[in-house]
Amino acid sequence: MSDKAAQYSKSSKAQRFWNRALLDSIPWPKTGCRVVDIGCGTGETTRALVAERDGVEGVVAFDKAPDRISFAERHCSHEKIVYGVADIAVASTLEVEWMAGAFTRALALHVFHWVQDQEAALANVSSMLAPGGDMLLCMGVRIPRAFEYVKEEIVRDARWTAFVSESDAQWRHNKTWDRKNETWRYPDPASGYRKLCENAGFDVAKCDVGAYEYEYESKAECRGMLEYLLPYTAKIPKELAEEYGEEVYRLYESKARKSESGRIMWDAQFLVVHGKKKT
Ligand SMILES: C[S@@+](CC[C@H](N)C(=O)[O-])C[C@H]1O[C@@H](n2cnc3c(N)ncnc32)[C@H](O)[C@@H]1O
Repeated sequence: MSDKAAQYSKSSKAQRFWNRALLDSIPWPKTGCRVVDIGCGTGETTRALVAERDGVEGVVAFDKAPDRISFAERHCSHEKIVYGVADIAVASTLEVEWMAGAFTRALALHVFHWVQDQEAALANVSSMLAPGGDMLLCMGVRIPRAFEYVKEEIVRDARWTAFVSESDAQWRHNKTWDRKNETWRYPDPASGYRKLCENAGFDVAKCDVGAYEYEYESKAECRGMLEYLLPYTAKIPKELAEEYGEEVYRLYESKARKSESGRIMWDAQFLVVHGKKKT
């Protein structure tokens, strides 16, 4: 079992908090809902979905990372969920029976900002949906300024530079989770992405960038999420891990937004899309 999957499961309380609100923001039928959960990660949201919504008949949940799927199978199994490994942008990895309009609803929560070929991914979502089926997407478009600061500062510090590879150093310049070729993001991601969805055959009810915040319950929770997100963490030798973790937290805390009660916050911007496959 990979540490990375276990770490995601442990450090993704914020995602689960946002996912609950996102799932509550759309109506759920009382029966007959067949869901595909794209990029399901370690499966916590998938399991909560079937446990809490009686109208969900079954879920196929897949992820391109095999370690996340083995984790989900071990820790988040349910009789209504079938897990699998597949890449939403690569049709040949998606089961033939899924691609025949098998689902009434597609979810991709915190996934599509990682996908380079958006056109291929949206075309595949459309193939998996029955006519009139809908999709709910949520993707990151901006990370907190305090996290940008951590990314910049940590690689300037002589204690850590030896452990930062060139690709990590390039990653620190990525302020918006951008990937090459994502021309739709500029100048206005909401209208750019709306066009992509319309071109893929969706009626778009919502395609908005919004502010999404999360208040950490503890220092340990905040530190865990920061360490998980920074690619440098994996390179730090064990004997320096504690010092590194404290430094990452100190940097974030020094610039982070605080709630009224003084708690540290993660304040991000997401693009949220709700679209319906044209009949
Ligand atoms: C931040 S996690 C989100 C997991 C889960 N949806 C949640 O909200 O907790 C992003 C997941 O998307 C998966 N992913 C990224 N690109 C993907 C692709 N092209 N096809 C399928 N999964 C992908 C990653 O492996 C990762 O598990």
